Amino acid sequence: MHSVSLPEIGTFEAWRDEARALLGASVPPGEVLWQRGQGAADLFSNGPGAEAPPPAASAPLSVPLSVPRGFVDLARLAICHSDPERFARLYALLWALRSDKRLLSDRADPRIDRLERMAKEVRRDRHKMTAFVRFREIGTPGANRRSFAAWFEPTHHIVELTAPFFVSRFGDMDWCILTPDISAHFEGGDLRFAAGAARPDLPEDATEDLWRTYFRNIFNPARLKPKAMQAEMPKKYWHNMPETQLIPELLASAQARAQEMAEAAPTLAPARAGKITARLRAEPETAPEMPGDLAQALQGCRRCPLWQDATQPVPGEGPKDAALMVVGEQPGDREDLEGRPFVGPAGQLFDKAAARAGLDRAQAYLTNAVKHFKFTPRGKRRIHQAPNRGEVMHCRWWLDIERAQVKPKLILAMGATAAESLTGSRAGLMARRGQVEHTEDGTPVLITLHPSYLLRLPEADRPAAEALFEQDLRLAAEMVAELR
Ligand code: URA
Repeated sequence: MHSVSLPEIGTFEAWRDEARALLGASVPPGEVLWQRGQGAADLFSNGPGAEAPPPAASAPLSVPLSVPRGFVDLARLAICHSDPERFARLYALLWALRSDKRLLSDRADPRIDRLERMAKEVRRDRHKMTAFVRFREIGTPGANRRSFAAWFEPTHHIVELTAPFFVSRFGDMDWCILTPDISAHFEGGDLRFAAGAARPDLPEDATEDLWRTYFRNIFNPARLKPKAMQAEMPKKYWHNMPETQLIPELLASAQARAQEMAEAAPTLAPARAGKITARLRAEPETAPEMPGDLAQALQGCRRCPLWQDATQPVPGEGPKDAALMVVGEQPGDREDLEGRPFVGPAGQLFDKAAARAGLDRAQAYLTNAVKHFKFTPRGKRRIHQAPNRGEVMHCRWWLDIERAQVKPKLILAMGATAAESLTGSRAGLMARRGQVEHTEDGTPVLITLHPSYLLRLPEADRPAAEALFEQDLRLAAEMVAELR
């Protein structure tokens, strides 16, 4: 019997190297005993519990071995599952793939089915981590970089896999996320992992008040669904989240507040709304109602400086339970003035192509990765400027809220900005269009071109690109019909 001890940090890489060596030596799955942590040798030879750098993207091969790409993606997720059999299951699959490469696409095979379900549970847990980690400030006032800490209890071993998300979101501050499994530390721009920790006493601070204020503001007593609320935010996470202290009080007063809201007179519009209304008075359309209070909450967005020059934020619009969400880059000139997405030339091109592809705009929820128009003035014109990565990442806050509210079955990402915001990947768009990728919580994302890109193409090149765009929209319509 071969006994393999895997480290708690860098588990996937260590498993991969061991599996390669075992396969190279033709050791059958039944003869391998796998274990992780507690006495298992540390991959980086620093002793149990010692700190280690993040694992390298690809360790040297001990034995050349080719496996389908899909297996690596599946293994990376499934290996984070808390099932103690996960290493053995993956090795058994690897063994079986040697004689049947197509096995991986056989969803009826119980081995694949089990691993796919494990991967799905891991994706879910990662999503919970990205949504429910709450940082508290621990640094000293006046320090160069602000410093934060958070305590989180994931169900699976997802810290290494999920930490890069926090790096991309909070790259300009120092932070650590402590968990009972392993902990992530981000200091001076470097990410490292260390042993798990006991729950620390973290100070209450101003960030908590912000969360509570935000939650109080988005809480709509008229739409109270305690069961759905608990399904989305299981009680397990409540004790780490400042806003959840408000839940009992908000639940208790919900009925009375809903009544008050129904009876209340409309609030006064802010002064600058006068200018906007005057400009828009000639327009016959009015924006449909937004899910939740997002449109109103967006008015106060100061997450990045783009609000300063834009006329107004542009929230998404469409049915609150749309199966399809369409995400563009940012509002253009017309959208900025009207406060509605995709009403300008790009929107018109989209409408025409969608109609030809059998995709009904009225049934989709249309929104943008960035909610304010970014431009540079040139004479009397405002010239579109692409949002930078920071702006896109700050604005993901809003897109995540829209996704959580609408819960689309499929997202159509139009253009590189939307694709990056939804999948985190900045890989070239042309190679990805027409393909399905996934958000961190596993929602399928179909990548396509942006209609503004089509508008900028020379006349001669446009028909071919439009045909591709239309083909993707048709695929989206078909996928939505299947997923519904
Ligand atoms: N381009 C976009 O990405 N979104 C809009 O709403 C308009 C143009």
